[in-house]
Amino acid sequence: MTHRKPYVGGNWKMNTDGASGAELATAVAVALETEHSVDIAVFPPFPYLAGIGTLLRDRGSTVLLGAQDVSDQPGGAFTGEVSAAMLLDCGVKTVLVGHSERRHVIGEPDALLNAKAKAALAGGLDVVLCIGETLDQREAGETDEINERQARAGLAGIPAADMPRVTIAYEPVWAIGTGKTATPDDAQNAHAQIRRVLADLYTPEVAGAVRIQYGGSVKPANAAELFSCPDIDGGLIGGASLKATDFAAICHAAAAAPAL
Ligand code: PGA
Repeated sequence: MTHRKPYVGGNWKMNTDGASGAELATAVAVALETEHSVDIAVFPPFPYLAGIGTLLRDRGSTVLLGAQDVSDQPGGAFTGEVSAAMLLDCGVKTVLVGHSERRHVIGEPDALLNAKAKAALAGGLDVVLCIGETLDQREAGETDEINERQARAGLAGIPAADMPRVTIAYEPVWAIGTGKTATPDDAQNAHAQIRRVLADLYTPEVAGAVRIQYGGSVKPANAAELFSCPDIDGGLIGGASLKATDFAAICHAAAAAPAL
C-alpha cells in the first residue's frame, strides 16, 4: 500500500495584516523547524504572499507557501484577478481551489473551479481541491453524492500524471468555523468514499497515493483522533491556524498519527 505523507495546511482566510502575518509565519516556521514527517503549508492573503515567501525562504523553512485562490486565466484584461504565473513568481507552491467560502459565499461554480485547477497545474502550482456538503445536503443524506459530483467536476480533464500534485480537502460546510466537527467515523466514511471515486476516475494506485485532508473546526484537541483514521491524511485548518502553537500542535498530531 502506498505511504501517504501527512499534509496540513493553514488557511488564514481574510485575516492578519502585514506585521501580524509576518509574525505568524515566523512563529510557524520556528515551531515546525524540525517537523519533517509532515508536509506543511500556510495560505496567507494575496498582499502578503511575496513578503512571507521571502521570509520563509530566508529562514530556510520547509513550510510551503500557498495561495487561497487563483484565476482560471493566464493573464490579460481580468481586473482584480491573480494568475498562476504571478503566484509562482511570489514563491507560491500550491493553491486552494473551491474552498466552500468561494463556492457558497462567492458563488463559484464547478466548471470555473475545474478551469482554475487546470490553470494552476498548467502554471506549475500544486492544487488543493476543496469539496464538501452543506448541512441541508447532509441532512438529506446526500453527502457522498455531493462529494462525488464535486470531485468528478473539479478533476474533469486532469490526467493521472498530474494527480501527484493534487490534494483533496474534504470540508463539510457545516463544520467550517462553527466549532462542530464531523465524527471521526463520519469523516472516515466520506474520505473512503472519495478515494473510491478517485479509483474509479483514475486507478486504485493513483487513488491510494492522493492525500485527502479533513477540514472543519480541527483543533489540537480533536486532531489526533481525526488523523488516526486510515483515509484522513492531514487537515486544512482555518481558525486554529492563526495561532502558531495550535497550528504546530495539529501538525505534530498529524506526524504522530499511525502510518498510513
Ligand atoms: P475552520 O476552517 O478550521 O476555521 O473550521 C477550515 C477551513 O475553512 O479550511
